Amino acid sequence: MDTPSLIVPEKSVFLETFGCQMNESDSERLLGFLRDLGYTRVETPGDADLIILNTCSVRDKAEQKVYSALGRFKHLKEENPGLIIALCGCVAQQEGERLLQRVPYLDLVIGTSNIHRVGQLLEEAGLRNKRVAAISLSGIIDTDEYGSASRTNGLKAFVSIMRGCDNYCSYCIVPYTRGHEVSRDAADIIGEIRRLCLNGVREVMLLGQNVNSYRDKSAGINFVDLLRGVAEIDGIERIRFVTSHPRDLSPALIRLFGEEPKLCRHLHLPVQSGSDPVLQRMRRGYRVDEYLAKVTRLQDLYPDIALTTDIIVGFPGETEEDFERTLTLIRRVGFDNIFSFKYSPRPGTAAADYEPAVPMAEQKKRLAALQALQSKITIKRGRDLVGRVESVLVEGVSKLSGEELTGRTASNRVVNFAAPPEVQGRVIDVLITEAHEHSLRGTYKEWKAYAT
Ligand code: 5AD
Ligand code: SF4
Repeated sequence: MDTPSLIVPEKSVFLETFGCQMNESDSERLLGFLRDLGYTRVETPGDADLIILNTCSVRDKAEQKVYSALGRFKHLKEENPGLIIALCGCVAQQEGERLLQRVPYLDLVIGTSNIHRVGQLLEEAGLRNKRVAAISLSGIIDTDEYGSASRTNGLKAFVSIMRGCDNYCSYCIVPYTRGHEVSRDAADIIGEIRRLCLNGVREVMLLGQNVNSYRDKSAGINFVDLLRGVAEIDGIERIRFVTSHPRDLSPALIRLFGEEPKLCRHLHLPVQSGSDPVLQRMRRGYRVDEYLAKVTRLQDLYPDIALTTDIIVGFPGETEEDFERTLTLIRRVGFDNIFSFKYSPRPGTAAADYEPAVPMAEQKKRLAALQALQSKITIKRGRDLVGRVESVLVEGVSKLSGEELTGRTASNRVVNFAAPPEVQGRVIDVLITEAHEHSLRGTYKEWKAYAT
């Protein structure tokens, strides 16, 4: 009797990711689904049967990058009509069908809630020659949506725990591109992290647009409960999460940094502006003094905590005085790092019509002043670490000097240091000896024990 052939022809995919960690995590999921369909990843678009761009539309510049990237693939489609070109992520969700009209050589538009349907969509494009835009936004997360994330054999992994946002900050497109807030079942998340751990993962970064408002209603589990559950998994040594909304930073979460040693003392807490009238027009839902009260509590309890933030400069109506208040806040908090952006009006958001716009030259000036100030603070905070012993997850060999190893502190700073290769993959103590703006250097504490 003939046995049916199980040989599936090899197919290849070129995937490029723009934007935030949520997109990186979605790309990992996409690769997982594609691997199950027989695809391998290639680094050159010309070698691929399928090209996917995972896109970002949080600012106009990011969106324009996507259109120019797409333009690079036009000739490939002309040379190889069997090539499938797909766009997913936030630009796909935002533009939908319009993209198919605007870009005639584009085959698939895959919205942010439709990633797990990639197999079915590829079949429609490939076998039935259809051009499809799948952009329905789902109010639930199915267990199988996150089933098969493709992981490298890394030590660190992103784990999405929720998606969407209900805050509708006036400048932000995310609630439109990612939909309403939906949390995954806690049992699914814990199961996924257990599997990752068996594959060697030691550090997880829990992801959500508004991660600290996570809630598994049916199981009665909130974000702090979930963090405790993750910490119970043997083998997981470090837990981080991003992004938190200052308003949802609860006293219980603040306490957890003191109770749970696996929780890295590193918190990204976007403030956006240091001026109350601006925060109000941004619809952020807190005042500067409320933000500062939470930050002060964290810093009093945990002097070693590393705080980072996001700032938008040049929001409509931002005066010189408003901006000065932002600089004052930055000096007052002493962030480890900030991510700062010029305001970019986004279609359909409330602030798109706000006036008066801050002139571009002024926005640039403010951004430069902010970044110059922060750069000094970042260097100073690095120098404060010199002479201290930091716990470091050893990730591999340093790119700068092949003789050194590299890893990150709990505060997420890069450290390069000399140590024997067998410490790779472990969390070890490193004495910090030098601080640069983007990295630290150190010596492995037990180095002597190995040398003898
Ligand atoms: N313009 C500029 N920056 C923005 N961000 C979000 N929307 C905009 C916009 N329209 C920034 C915010 C947010 C980060 C991810 O991107 O600071 O926290
Ligand atoms: Fe955007 Fe505000 Fe939601 Fe963050 S909290 S994703 S800035 S709407």
